[in-house]
Amino acid sequence: MEVKKVFVVGAGLMGNGIAQVSAVAGYQVIMSDVDNIFLDRALATIDKSLDRFIKKGAITTEQKGGALARIQVTTDINRAAEADLVIEVVPENLELKLEVFKKLDQLCRPEVVIASNTSAIPISKLAAATNRPSRVVGTHFFSPVPMMRLVELVCGLSTSEETLNLVKEFTLKIGKDFVVCRMDCAGFLLNRIGMPWVMEAIRCVQDGVATAEDIDKGYRLGYNYPMGPLELIDMTGIDTTYQAALAIYQDTGDPKFYPPSLMHRMVEAGHVGRKAGRGFYDYTKK
Ligand SMILES: NC(=O)c1ccc[n+]([C@@H]2O[C@H](COP(=O)([O-])OP(=O)(O)OC[C@H]3O[C@@H](n4cnc5c(N)ncnc54)[C@H](O)[C@@H]3O)[C@@H](O)[C@H]2O)c1
Repeated sequence: MEVKKVFVVGAGLMGNGIAQVSAVAGYQVIMSDVDNIFLDRALATIDKSLDRFIKKGAITTEQKGGALARIQVTTDINRAAEADLVIEVVPENLELKLEVFKKLDQLCRPEVVIASNTSAIPISKLAAATNRPSRVVGTHFFSPVPMMRLVELVCGLSTSEETLNLVKEFTLKIGKDFVVCRMDCAGFLLNRIGMPWVMEAIRCVQDGVATAEDIDKGYRLGYNYPMGPLELIDMTGIDTTYQAALAIYQDTGDPKFYPPSLMHRMVEAGHVGRKAGRGFYDYTKK
């Protein structure tokens, strides 16, 4: 089936980015949310983001106009019936996502693939709420969506090759690239590998093995990483990473994911990274 119309459920930080890149690539997009306030905000965000791409010379004013004209907004989830591909981008709450998946399953044509942008909820769990488990898949985008090139494609136990191929093609068409996580294990692929690395770096600071500066410098200069682990979580938010690590730990029982005491304390103290002005580094002086 050829995908022409994409229905994006949830117009927040990630949803409006997904709507934007889909529309720029030529797809017709319906972006939905529970209230027009969120949709207006999402459209304003897209407008500004497209202006930045014009400034960089990446798109023309005509292309911006075309992309905006391809985005419709609605508070009526029933319009999912029009879609050839649905991407669910509502908040990371299992009950909410299950409810949305049940509803989408009733509304969408049987052959339509329903993808989720979940960071951590098992795709198999969402698929089990539908009558189309083979057509449910994870499309885990990275923030900010218009800038970051990767989509982590995540298979549940029943996801078919046909479904995987459809989202692979979609990912390439919107100018992104993908990696495939063949099993919806806790943390999927990138966090399963990356999270223990971050936890170990925090343990090194906690145990006085090295300073945050030296750990980050080590990875920048020794491994050519653009950022070390502590700079990275200062940017993404120590609180967000803490919740994600704890969720993976609770799912696996594996101590390598357990947040160290220093991380607990930093979250309690509100030293949660750049957004708070203070994390492993002090941003109030820069
Ligand atoms: N923020 C990130 O960096 C990031 C990165 C990767 C994946 N994710 C995942 O993407 C998903 C969305 O995250 P976000 O940061 O965009 O959240 P967000 O809170 O910015 O946006 C969610 C939007 O969904 C809307 N919504 C709530 N219930 C709805 C419903 N029933 N129907 C339609 N819309 C509804 C909300 O009003 C809100 O506008 C989560 O699963 C999150 O884990 C987030």
